[in-house]
Amino acid sequence: MLIPEDVVNEIKYRNPIEELVSSYVNLKRRGKNLVGLCPFHSEKTPSFTLYPENGSFYCFGCGVGGDVFTFTGLIENLDYGESIRLLAERSGVTLPQDGIDDSMQRLKNRIYDINRDAGRFFHQYMLSPAGKWGLDYLTGRGLTMATIRHFGLGAAPDSWTALTDHLRAKGYSESELLAAGVAGKGNHGVYDRFRKRVMFPIINIRGNIIGFSGRAMPGEDKQGAKYVNTADTPVYKKSANLFGMNFAKSACAERVILVEGNMDVISLHQAGFTNTVAPLGTAFTAEQANLLARYTKEIVLMMDADAAGQKAIRRDMEILQNTGLAVRVVSIPDGKDPDEFIKKNGAERFAALLEGAVSDMEFKLLTAAAGIDVTSDDGKLRYLSAAAEVIAASDDEIARDLYIGRLSEKYGVSRTALSAKVEELRKKTARKKERKAFSDMVRPKFSGNEINPERRTSPRGTAAEETVLAILLKNPDYCAETAAQLPPEKWITTLNRRIFEVMIEAEKEGRALDLSLFGQKLLPAEMGYLVSLQNSEKAGQNPKTVLKDCIGVILEENLLSRSADQTEQTTADWAEKMKKMVENKAKGN
Ligand code: UTP
Ligand code: MN
Repeated sequence: MLIPEDVVNEIKYRNPIEELVSSYVNLKRRGKNLVGLCPFHSEKTPSFTLYPENGSFYCFGCGVGGDVFTFTGLIENLDYGESIRLLAERSGVTLPQDGIDDSMQRLKNRIYDINRDAGRFFHQYMLSPAGKWGLDYLTGRGLTMATIRHFGLGAAPDSWTALTDHLRAKGYSESELLAAGVAGKGNHGVYDRFRKRVMFPIINIRGNIIGFSGRAMPGEDKQGAKYVNTADTPVYKKSANLFGMNFAKSACAERVILVEGNMDVISLHQAGFTNTVAPLGTAFTAEQANLLARYTKEIVLMMDADAAGQKAIRRDMEILQNTGLAVRVVSIPDGKDPDEFIKKNGAERFAALLEGAVSDMEFKLLTAAAGIDVTSDDGKLRYLSAAAEVIAASDDEIARDLYIGRLSEKYGVSRTALSAKVEELRKKTARKKERKAFSDMVRPKFSGNEINPERRTSPRGTAAEETVLAILLKNPDYCAETAAQLPPEKWITTLNRRIFEVMIEAEKEGRALDLSLFGQKLLPAEMGYLVSLQNSEKAGQNPKTVLKDCIGVILEENLLSRSADQTEQTTADWAEKMKKMVENKAKGN
């Protein structure tokens, strides 16, 4: 099961964490460590920390952490074993064949095959006489045959078993069909998830079909949603993929057009704007923003002209701010979405619209005025203070100066007064930031109860356990002695016990206590917890004495909580919960 230590070390040696991470994150040196904006959650001040000394990372904002393999797994959506394989491949290390559990990779390959066969089935059905309704619908919406073929569009028959029968005849098992998300299971067995819908394959950057989006026929969307999308599967994570990215990736070096719907993407591609993408059935995420940041320099936001679209713009801009990408907003003057606009007005008009996109500051200033009557003195004041906040939020001094000038002119107020207001706001946020950075430093997130929910049963005992783990991570030679005085069954919380068990096992096998040992057994957030313990100062000046005291505390607390007779129950619950989390993770959540 475990990959030999020297092989893991070789891979780590050839993939220095600084180099790997800096290809995704803009890192700045801080003392002996490096910091940057966390690629796994949306943030404005850097709390993502890299410890080159021991090859680990930890985010004080969201609590994830680990080694090069955990990082690769999170950013490429792979499990730990797959990450080891990927980095090995990239750096030319050959892995020993046996001992690697590749059942997940096999399942993924089966799902790709199922999706490819399902995609063909939908396409062929739509081109057959029985599926003419689907073809009529799509051509009726202005799509050409070439576009339909290019995107591999199709239709799902009005049947509960047509696809599953077809796929079963090809040798796929029930559980594989369920895992791929093309089938569901009810009282009468498995059934087709998509029925009487036009089907849009979702294709990843490598060209594999990873899922589907199915649109109900007009008038028939009463029974279900207008669009039904594949739920997350081992190959599809909706928060990490974008519809159209497989084509856009080679056309978007300069800019990407981000729209809301798949029909918008297809219409714009057909009109030649092949750098268009859309999130699918979800709000735009930080993961998607980071994906785009690897391919392009600028994002043009083109949301629907309704209230939901305007709200999305504000949210998306905030997410995009952290990527360092330039952002522009184009509002659609005619029609409800880009698809309608281009159908009515043609490609040339659309190109002109693109060029006139306002900057994100202009957009924010515009929307700040919404609902305020700026002709009254009172309204003017309210608008100017909202506008001052927008301006103060920009780190671009020239832009601030420009807009202060424009506003003071437009509203007839003194430039000095407006500029003083902006400066005051900036000082305030700077102070807030400093305080937040400080509190993040002294009070890392994991001290909450999220990672270790059993902390509640004994906060004192849990703290002692954490100190023991921190000491052992720095002084592995104390492991055996500790195990003799404090065997695993005497530990209070399950998470810490699991970590300790990995340590003893490593000790027995004579392996160094390396993060990679834990990676296969802990979730990324738990790895984060471990890294933060490893880098904490808990061990103190005199680890031997502290260790002895802590063992005493744990044994004492253990007796107390035993007498309360809760341990059995919570341990079983926790084990069950962990199992579920790991299963969910295996499903790609
Ligand atoms: P819209 O309702 O704006 O759809 O949803 P649209 O793109 O204009 O679709 P058409 O033109 O009527 O065919 C935008 C996107 O939100 C997701 C879909 O990805 C859709 O493209 N969505 C919408 C869902 O996932 N489920 C829904 O029920 C509706
Ligand atoms: Mn539409």
